[in-house]
Amino acid sequence: AYVAAIREALGECRPLIFPKLTPNVTNIGAIAQEVMAAGADGLVAINTVGPEVHIEPISGLPILQNSLGGAGGKSGKWIYQEALKAVKAIRQAVGEEVPLIGMGGVSNGRDVAEMVLAGSDLVGIGSAFAKVHQREWPAYAEALVDDASAILRGEERNNSAKYYSLKPSMEYKERKVIERQEFGSDTLVVTLEGNWPFEAGEYVFLWIPGVGEKPFSIAIDSPLTFVIKLKGAFTKALFNLKVGDSLFIRGLYGEPFTLPSYPKATLVAGGSGVAVVPPLAKRLTKEGVTLQTFVGISDENQRDVLRDEIEKYGPLNIVADQGEVGRVLSEVVRGAEVEGCSYYFIGPTPFMGRGAKELVERGVSPRAIFLSLELPTLCGVGLCGQCSCGERLTCQYGTFVSYHYVLENDEELLR
Ligand SMILES: Cc1cc2nc3c(=O)[nH]c(=O)nc-3n(C[C@H](O)[C@H](O)[C@H](O)COP(=O)(O)OP(=O)(O)OC[C@H]3O[C@@H](n4cnc5c(N)ncnc54)[C@H](O)[C@@H]3O)c2cc1C
Ligand code: FES
Repeated sequence: AYVAAIREALGECRPLIFPKLTPNVTNIGAIAQEVMAAGADGLVAINTVGPEVHIEPISGLPILQNSLGGAGGKSGKWIYQEALKAVKAIRQAVGEEVPLIGMGGVSNGRDVAEMVLAGSDLVGIGSAFAKVHQREWPAYAEALVDDASAILRGEERNNSAKYYSLKPSMEYKERKVIERQEFGSDTLVVTLEGNWPFEAGEYVFLWIPGVGEKPFSIAIDSPLTFVIKLKGAFTKALFNLKVGDSLFIRGLYGEPFTLPSYPKATLVAGGSGVAVVPPLAKRLTKEGVTLQTFVGISDENQRDVLRDEIEKYGPLNIVADQGEVGRVLSEVVRGAEVEGCSYYFIGPTPFMGRGAKELVERGVSPRAIFLSLELPTLCGVGLCGQCSCGERLTCQYGTFVSYHYVLENDEELLR
């Protein structure tokens, strides 16, 4: 009835309708027949399995928080056999002529070949892309087709394996808070036990069971230190953690930043962007770049946030807003060098957009200006698509991007 209603509502317009069928039924073949009789053009199988509660093994707690008590639809390689069974049942029920897209946990050439033998005309890939770097997606897809074609001819081939599993897993590690220091009402520097080696451009997710998880840059790898700006429910929960309390971390995500070759660099941070200054300054110093840092603050209490750490790498200019939001940008632009210097902005998007625009107006090349993007970031593994700048996902290519790239590919981002 649902498909028939959609078909009727579309009237003269005749897009192809391919309903995606849930496997959570007793007779998927009968449903497939009904859907085709109601006017569908073809079928897709399967949708997620479940819902089920997944207990995260390190914490022993459910990952999801929702009105279903933490239950969610399952996808990925765990559902592959179920998908294969459903595709076979549908093909048997609807005959040879109905176009059918088989999907669900497909990740290698053998899976693709089996899906084809089960009756799929096309094979869909979803979760497997979370285990392949975005830059390798086209090559991985080609290798899957090539591997499957070889297997269907009776040869052994698994070239797609070299692209699969190059990415960090989604496993969590537990860490205890060993120190916390508040700077004014909205800034917290929190230190956790242990270390977490990383490079500028990479980040992690922090998870507090029962509250949620959010992305954060690591400020210092050892002891593991974060700078937190109070925003909403999650950062409030971080503020409420006491010494000895635990939280969970997954990562690294993003990618180390490839440095351009400029002999000098100016780093400009605002808001929680100060967290990214130490790793970036460390990297630049290692490459022999002479640098200075500007940090804009809205509250005098923020003057000492990571101050000792940043001063290790060069002169630090702390500029208080004094009622003029982003006053630090005027200071940077006033003293800007047009040649031989690269500029790194780390902070809220409008702050970075304004600084970059004013530098270009002064004659600095957009290729010499880099922005550290903190876009909405939900999965970290390339599946949700939220963190895109142009065609690049920042969880894949890292958080730094040149201003030139943004202007060419996603100028709206800075508005
Ligand atoms: C790569 C990266 C690194 C970051 N590093 C730091 C850091 O070192 N220190 C720090 O204080 N903050 C950092 N952030 C921002 C931090 O993730 C948000 O402040 C946090 O998610 C807010 O959550 P909340 O529940 O307190 O607020 P909410 O009420 O949920 O949101 C408040 C604001 O925070 C931002 N935000 C919320 N959820 C997300 C999300 N999933 N992804 C990106 N932004 C979000 C949005 O601008 C939103 O308007 C980083 C974000 C990214 C993407
Ligand atoms: S956070 Fe990058 S795609 Fe989901």
